Amino acid sequence: MILYFSGTGNSRYVAELLAQQLKEKAFPIFDISPANVEWSDMGLGIVCPVYSWGIPPLVLNYISSIPVQANSTHQRPIWVVLTCGDETGMAPEMIVDACAKTGLKLQGIWSVIMPNNYVLLPGFDVDPTDVEQQKLSQAPTRIRTIAQAVIKGEEGIDVTRGSWAWIKTKLVYPLFKRWGMIPRKWKWTKECLQCGKCAKACPIGNIEMRGNHPRWHDKCVSCLACYHSCPVHAVSYGNMTSSKGQYECRLKAVNVK
Ligand SMILES: Cc1cc2nc3c(=O)[nH]c(=O)nc-3n(C[C@H](O)[C@H](O)[C@H](O)COP(=O)(O)O)c2cc1C
Ligand code: SF4
Ligand code: SF4
Repeated sequence: MILYFSGTGNSRYVAELLAQQLKEKAFPIFDISPANVEWSDMGLGIVCPVYSWGIPPLVLNYISSIPVQANSTHQRPIWVVLTCGDETGMAPEMIVDACAKTGLKLQGIWSVIMPNNYVLLPGFDVDPTDVEQQKLSQAPTRIRTIAQAVIKGEEGIDVTRGSWAWIKTKLVYPLFKRWGMIPRKWKWTKECLQCGKCAKACPIGNIEMRGNHPRWHDKCVSCLACYHSCPVHAVSYGNMTSSKGQYECRLKAVNVK
């Protein structure tokens, strides 16, 4: 079984292509409760994006809630694939720590560079089209390499960390957790077509259509699915996003040879 958390489709695509290669099935992580995860011969795969050089808090909580199999001598491992726009920092160590605390066996952690979807701070935007295309064209080869490593039972951490990894993860990630998302900043603009796509895109059901317009509740996990899925760029985060681009992964695992 492979579980994925995905806002704009990158991690879903990676999970589905891995599932195809490994003859496994991929599911959205919140469709399966931690108590009901199924371990195949290849253990349990988890695919998620990197958030602020760390692991999305809800994914980390999920991993920490997976019960350790009763007979720990025959325990199968989890393996993790992180998708990121550029670099993971020390995000893998968060998984290592969570597994060490709970007793889960960890096989390995890999990263795949995919188009960036982060737009909420000054200086951050989606990739230019040529960079986006280059990343998308290189991803399948990387995913196949990871699939082979999982099949062979290879262990270890194989990620693109980037520079200043320690500082970014240890200092910036806690700030992101505290201040990175202010749900009341989400709003719809006058261009809104009342189509409901933003609400449908939210992976945690945090958006309600009320009076035909979206209304954001306060559980937002900052995945940006609502922002990127709007067909007319009518989802806005304060005044930060009006001049930013939009991105959605349109690759389908079945289309990849
Ligand atoms: C809140 C947030 C924080 C992010 N932080 C990072 C980061 O630290 N490093 C990075 O390379 N990409 C970062 N990104 C980009 C995503 O990790 C990347 O685009 C990912 O593939 C998105 O996956 P998804 O489409 O499955 O949601 C961030 C994206 C979001 C929404
Ligand atoms: S996706 Fe955009 S146009 Fe559709 S309801 Fe949401 S804000 Fe309005
Ligand atoms: S409301 Fe938050 S969690 Fe839901 S789609 Fe938008 S950014 Fe993601």
